[in-house]
Amino acid sequence: MHTVTTQPIEGQKPGTSGLRKKTLVFMQAHYLENFVQSVFDAIGGAAGKTFVVGGDGRYFNDRAAQVILRMAAANGAAHVIVGQGALLSTPAASHLIRLNKTDGGLIMSASHNPGGEDEDFGIKFNGPNGGPAPEGLTDKIFARTTEITAYQITDAQDVDLNTIGTAALGDMKVTIVDPVADYAALLETLFDFDAIRAMIKGGFRISFDAMNAITGPYATEIIENSLGAAKGSVVHGTPLPDFGGMHPDPNPTWAHELMATMNGADAPDFGAASDGDGDRNMIVGPNVYVSPSDSLAVLAANAHLAKGYTQGLAGVARSMPTSAAADRVAEKLGMPCYETPTGWKFFGNLMDDGRVTLCGEESFGTGSDHVREKDGVWAVLMWLNILAKRKMSVAQIMQDHWQTYGRNYYSRHDYEAIDSDIANTLVADLRAKLADLPGQTVQGRTIANADDYSYTDPVDGSVSDHQGIRVIFDDGARFVIRLSGTGTSGATLRLYLEALELDPANFDHDPQDALASIIAAAEDVAGIKARTGRSGPDVTT
Ligand code: G6P
Ligand code: ZN
Repeated sequence: MHTVTTQPIEGQKPGTSGLRKKTLVFMQAHYLENFVQSVFDAIGGAAGKTFVVGGDGRYFNDRAAQVILRMAAANGAAHVIVGQGALLSTPAASHLIRLNKTDGGLIMSASHNPGGEDEDFGIKFNGPNGGPAPEGLTDKIFARTTEITAYQITDAQDVDLNTIGTAALGDMKVTIVDPVADYAALLETLFDFDAIRAMIKGGFRISFDAMNAITGPYATEIIENSLGAAKGSVVHGTPLPDFGGMHPDPNPTWAHELMATMNGADAPDFGAASDGDGDRNMIVGPNVYVSPSDSLAVLAANAHLAKGYTQGLAGVARSMPTSAAADRVAEKLGMPCYETPTGWKFFGNLMDDGRVTLCGEESFGTGSDHVREKDGVWAVLMWLNILAKRKMSVAQIMQDHWQTYGRNYYSRHDYEAIDSDIANTLVADLRAKLADLPGQTVQGRTIANADDYSYTDPVDGSVSDHQGIRVIFDDGARFVIRLSGTGTSGATLRLYLEALELDPANFDHDPQDALASIIAAAEDVAGIKARTGRSGPDVTT
């Protein structure tokens, strides 16, 4: 073991979900090492502890895993559990942390960002509950990166991570596990696999696009091998270091191949895609796209049909920019509904405290308290379970849902890689005029409320300010503007749009048409196009 002298490297502040940078930035001398040592320091040292390590297989995943192992050994860790090939989806890592009652885990991923030498890499620490480090801890980690002077690392050969079994690195034990097995076993306790098998046997066809990222092995094992879907139901099923050039973000823009399949002739009955590290999901039926906010609401209304949730849900939580569709379900079913800032980490306390079972975000994340991350494959199985039990198509489920609860028309417009100064000024100017907005009329709509969202965690009382600007009209329609915390180049500005429709005659509009006056009002108030010079969003969900 030896101590390497280092100095702080600027910019190691974890964002919405860990530290994400260009891969070449991470590959600079001491960059990864400084951050990993800062994590160990911030959690009170690694001595005697057990960690889970794995990642989504993107470029540098394998090298970074070896560095983390050598540093864990040098810092006195007792045991590291690694996925074979250094692979683990984010939800599977969360499960292993919990299952083995470890002290946490290091997950290598930049989630839905593209991978490769010229693209993105990332790393995040999840705590003993299996969830992303809360803000208090990420602040500590960041503080440590600004004062670090040395890190510990052993001199050793690479550990063979390709063979399942145990190995040693100095005094530290390394266990190499099948990345899929424990996770698949967990899902089998939650869902009615027999009902899904029977539905598939009856001719139900699935297309799951793993986008050459981590869910390939999980979906192949569960959907094809275990549930009996035809070979080829999983598309792009082999994780590749550069995701085969795909941008593994399951939304209509980036998962366009799946959209074409689902909107084409002879579309399968059900389509889904997941992201780089397997925590996101997009659900599609033949010619129907299910917005993530609607998906959360449908799962909330139907979860009791899955065997892990027959007792009903303790409550549901959604991020603030997510539509209120889930709130309407919660109200009807008489369960609490919580609103949190963007970022899965905010759900952790609510789940640990037993307040909520189901959580979801407009950013294509849904999950439950079976782990402490959102979970793409879980969401797919929950949908399949519901479809198998209700014996309805995706389109019928949606129609039925809107008939019962009304339709919260929803869309998000992303303006990516815009100049950071322009983005920051736009938000600052908007913030400065918030107090004047109530009472004003724009595009024939009256603004009832405008604020900068602040959250007080009901469990630990911690406060998170500046979590997004909300402009709410007198009929409850609204738009929200916030800057993404997950991008790596320039700023990404997100505009979230929502309006509730209760008249069944109006349930079949294109959301862009239904929301047109709100889109125009947002432009009048914030001037996104005018200030950025863009003609429209890069991504529309
Ligand atoms: C990640 C986080 C989510 C978050 C999403 C979008 O996937 O895990 O919790 O909603 O990023 O975050 P952003 O800050 O880019 O809007
Ligand atoms: Zn992800």
